[in-house]
Amino acid sequence: MAVTDATTSRHAAFVARDVPAIRSRFPALRGPDVLLDNAGGSQVPDIVADRIRDYMLTNYVQLGAAYATSKKCGETVAAAHRLIELFFNCQGAGAAVLGASSSALLNNLANAYAADGPGKRNEIIVSEANHESNIGPWKRLERRGFRVHLWRVDPARHTTPLDALDEMLSDRTLVVAFPHVTNIFGGVEDVATICARVRDAGARSVVDSVAYAPHRPLDVQAIGCDWCVYSTYKVFGPHMGALFGTHEAFAEVEGPNHAFVPKTDVPRKFELGGVNHEGCAGLLGLWDYAAWLVGADASAAPDRETLRHAFEVMDQLERPLQERLIGWIGSQNDVRIVGPATAGPERLPTISMVAPGRSSKGIAESLNASGLGVRHGHFYSRRLVEALGLVPEDGVIRASFAHYNTMEEVDRLIEALERVMN
Ligand SMILES: Cc1ncc(COP(=O)(O)O)c(C=O)c1O
Repeated sequence: MAVTDATTSRHAAFVARDVPAIRSRFPALRGPDVLLDNAGGSQVPDIVADRIRDYMLTNYVQLGAAYATSKKCGETVAAAHRLIELFFNCQGAGAAVLGASSSALLNNLANAYAADGPGKRNEIIVSEANHESNIGPWKRLERRGFRVHLWRVDPARHTTPLDALDEMLSDRTLVVAFPHVTNIFGGVEDVATICARVRDAGARSVVDSVAYAPHRPLDVQAIGCDWCVYSTYKVFGPHMGALFGTHEAFAEVEGPNHAFVPKTDVPRKFELGGVNHEGCAGLLGLWDYAAWLVGADASAAPDRETLRHAFEVMDQLERPLQERLIGWIGSQNDVRIVGPATAGPERLPTISMVAPGRSSKGIAESLNASGLGVRHGHFYSRRLVEALGLVPEDGVIRASFAHYNTMEEVDRLIEALERVMN
């Protein structure tokens, strides 16, 4: 694969890594199973694990003191925040906070909006297509006097229609919470248009980009959102979450941290008890890996262009895998895709299917017995799976690819599916 970039001289000649070289950077891929549950959690390149280990063995002190080791710890945590801000592309527009998970960050955010009880804007709209982490925390605010509307999914179109949103938006809307990509359908939503409508109504948008972030360059400025969340453990990093907010959005809420932490102190006001320091060290390994992937200088300061390019490379590598599986599903009478049936840029390689009349659990377990690491169920998008008329516990069979997966692995999955179906 030739990868070139004419936009800047520094990136004039990105290298093209082949998949075997890429896989050699992910030691876990040498295990016995074919890992096709990457939307659940990705593997990490060696450098991420090395950085965590090095940090814990050489730099594991508390930050904030003036001795050299403590200063170094502070630099690691600050550098991780800067890297994640580049990842969001939020420079100038806002900031990023780190936390235990996207669920934890969204829960903190919902509570922050509810701190003073409902005001004139007392209505919240949540997409039914969300993972529960972007529904539950908002739904719970009903107990605190907020009105919460469910933005229903159109099962035939695999999306939440914009006209339905328009009908719900008003000068009472406080927040609209929706996914960038659902972890069941895999289709990329037109989040820029949704955010513009939410902004026009004077409300705040909360975008869940968890399912999008491992595949394409995330760009909160292009989306025009107020808040955006993703999980770093699904993007080749340690188990953490990251939340972007615009400066204006951060200014209007108090975080969960201690009373003496100033309201102006972002990210600290949202990082109750601090962040996972060794996790921050691991996050920095994502830069090393991204730079390596495109042949950039990892010792240089992280830059957006390299990150952007690395994710474009990943996207290019994933496309044929997605096409292959979707093409196969399309050729079957007894298997149905749950999500867009096309394999173009409008979707990502998170591919759900059902075999009408057959149990997803049974099929997934048969695939598991053949060493194929896929799953079945509702994937915490329980309300969405119910809206599709499926039994949530059985749900869908989902295969999700990352850029390190191979065509041979997809073919193994297809062969096993053919065996199980016949
Ligand atoms: C689309 C989506 N949103 C949110 C989450 C929650 O992320 P976390 O596990 O970091 O809380 C997940 C996790 O699977 C997800 O797939």
